[in-house]
Amino acid sequence: MFTTPEKDTIPWLDFTPDVFFGSTIPFMAPRERVAGSHTVPGDKSITHRALMLAALAPGESRITGALTSLDARSTAAVLRLLGARISPVRTGTSVRVRGNPRFSPPPSALQCGNSGTTTRLMLGLLAGHPFPATLTGDGSLRRRPMRRVTGPLMQMGASIDDGGRDGLPLRITGGSLAPLDWQMPVASAQIKSALLLAGLTGGVEVTLHEPAPTRDHTERLLQHFGFEVASREGILRFAPTGRLVPFELAVPGDPSSAAFLVAAALLAESGEIRITGVGLNPSRIGFLDIMRQMGGRVTAEGVHTPLGEPMGDLVAVASRLSAVDVPAGAIPGVIDEIPILACLAARASGTSRFRSVEELRVKESDRLALMVSNLRAVGVSAAAEGNDLVVVGSEAPLAGRVVTGGDHRIAMAFAVLGRGAGSRIDIDDPACAAVSFPGFADALERLSQVAA
Ligand code: S3P
Repeated sequence: MFTTPEKDTIPWLDFTPDVFFGSTIPFMAPRERVAGSHTVPGDKSITHRALMLAALAPGESRITGALTSLDARSTAAVLRLLGARISPVRTGTSVRVRGNPRFSPPPSALQCGNSGTTTRLMLGLLAGHPFPATLTGDGSLRRRPMRRVTGPLMQMGASIDDGGRDGLPLRITGGSLAPLDWQMPVASAQIKSALLLAGLTGGVEVTLHEPAPTRDHTERLLQHFGFEVASREGILRFAPTGRLVPFELAVPGDPSSAAFLVAAALLAESGEIRITGVGLNPSRIGFLDIMRQMGGRVTAEGVHTPLGEPMGDLVAVASRLSAVDVPAGAIPGVIDEIPILACLAARASGTSRFRSVEELRVKESDRLALMVSNLRAVGVSAAAEGNDLVVVGSEAPLAGRVVTGGDHRIAMAFAVLGRGAGSRIDIDDPACAAVSFPGFADALERLSQVAA
């Protein structure tokens, strides 16, 4: 059985999380067969961006299918402190946002919870506003590097005080900004988006030299509002040619969340599942190629692009998997899926290698260290060789205790791995899945309940 933490409240948010709390989740029942049609919560990256742009669009916007997880609520809470009126971010209702073209000075520190995307994108938006704001977060977020964003923002003219260390809390005072031409040291959608959003609120041109392509949701949304955003040969150019107006947006299901259910289906003994309404933006679905290379039978069907973002269904069939060697160039496109891909590698025949995954060290946890220690803890042979993650597949029943470090993707990856018949994996903090996937435990359970 999973252990469950005490029920607790998270003070900066507008609700008490109930996912997982007070319940135990059986994982020993054999789940050989999966079936049925399933859904996943709204896309996290698109939800953050939609809330932010709606908060700056004068009038009322409506976002349906928004992610209602802790991270999304952190963004809503921060935007409320900056003057936006945002209805409660709750499952089953659309979110209404009444925005203003300029933020107002916040009455208190901006608490970003566990969310790096909230923090870094907000820094970009605040850079163009002439007032001070302090950003902070939970223990994990306070340790994550921010100079990769604050460095170029200071070059644009924002004044930032991080107290001499690369992390939160920090205080930003924005104002009038100069155009930016910046060579990005790491491929990161958060850095890229922060700088584009600084271009937006500062009304200046931004040119970015990207080491590798990353998710392009910010570009697509800005293009929708008439901003010039064009990428050619690794150079992304933004010009403040557009204007934000209120909008209606239907957020597709999060492919990064779908990846956990797809993986569970691939690992099942038989059956197939369909996940409907999943975002299939090419910059997000590199994990499908890797799963296919491993022998995973997964297809995308009915792909259409209703609002500038491709979406469709994913169909995943129980499969026999073999090891994979993922080159460094593919990593930025699957950065959030490496924990679950590594868990698939733990059940694939042969030795898998994920090359140059050093960015994992600065995620919600040191994911490289935790993947290695947790895979070993449950009986899988794994190692960090330099910046590579190496995993040796095994068919043996797995047992042991997983330390998540509060990292949602570690918790979900090992919950999927623990489904195998005869396995007994105990997760120290399964509740942290609520950071990106409210209802994850039920969703996982349903994969085989439908078949029962
Ligand atoms: C995100 C970008 C990625 C990803 C994160 C969401 C975004 O972070 O890991 O979960 O929405 O822009 P990095 O930009 O740090 O790679």
